[in-house]
Amino acid sequence: MAYKNIIVETRSRVGLITLNRPKAMNALNAALIDELAQALDGFESDAAIGAIVLTGSEKAFAAGADILEMKDNTYAENYLNNFITDGWERITTCRKPVIAAVAGYALGGGCEVAMMCDFILAAENAKFGQPEVTIGTIPGAGGTQRLTRVVGKSKAMEMCLSGRMMDAEEAERSGLVSRIVDVDSLVEEAVKTAEAIAKLSQPIVLMAKEAVNNAYETTLTQGVHFERRLFHATFSTEDQKEGMAAFAEKRQPAFKNR
Ligand code: CAA
Repeated sequence: MAYKNIIVETRSRVGLITLNRPKAMNALNAALIDELAQALDGFESDAAIGAIVLTGSEKAFAAGADILEMKDNTYAENYLNNFITDGWERITTCRKPVIAAVAGYALGGGCEVAMMCDFILAAENAKFGQPEVTIGTIPGAGGTQRLTRVVGKSKAMEMCLSGRMMDAEEAERSGLVSRIVDVDSLVEEAVKTAEAIAKLSQPIVLMAKEAVNNAYETTLTQGVHFERRLFHATFSTEDQKEGMAAFAEKRQPAFKNR
């Protein structure tokens, strides 16, 4: 498939998707979101891929939904077309790990897309924000919900009510990003991290992802119960036997995804 708004590559067992609308700061228009969903579908169904990295440019991960494309939408059109739903939520249904590698602006829908990923690596020049209120609207792809769960009410409120951006340091302090990386080595570091994950047992990695995500959807007691059952279930895999045997025998494990 020929993509026009994204670049899709593979690096060993890693699928790398680069948002690529440089003239519009990678603003997320319908065509880009459609392509993103197709690229994710491709990597999800490709057994050779173990993890996915989503990135943008040094200037912008993405500066939000495309304002020029949506500015004349009516309420009825938005409602009937379920605007900002199809394609946008594809990241949240990926079973394979998705890492966001964010440099420059991650604003509005850009910040929301980054937060839909499993974790965010930020370049030191990254800026995160939900500036929708400054253009007469509010976040529409989960910003008020995911940001609040991650950074807490006070910071999320300030960002959503004023549009104030967070730099990489503040984002790391607040738990929004897992760590800060040099802008020059951001993609390389994200791919290296994804490769390390992709070398592990895929069913076990997927179970770990499912268990962490469950923390956002349930009570602590139910979440721990769910985790415990999955932990028990890992012992039904060959990879658990191999992983623990390799530890006991002081060698590297050879996982078979079984
Ligand atoms: N939509 C469409 N085009 C955008 C865009 C967006 N979200 N963000 C930037 N662009 C375009 C600009 O129109 C400009 O295009 P032209 O050169 O053709 O004029 C180009 O990208 C470069 O932008 P600037 O000249 O503004 O660059 P800057 O360096 O001065 O500022 C910026 C960068 C701070 C990111 C600024 O562009 C900006 O504030 N962008 C909008 C951010 C925003 O409000 N995002 C929220 C969108 S709404 C949303 O996302 C809803 C949701 O929850 C899903």
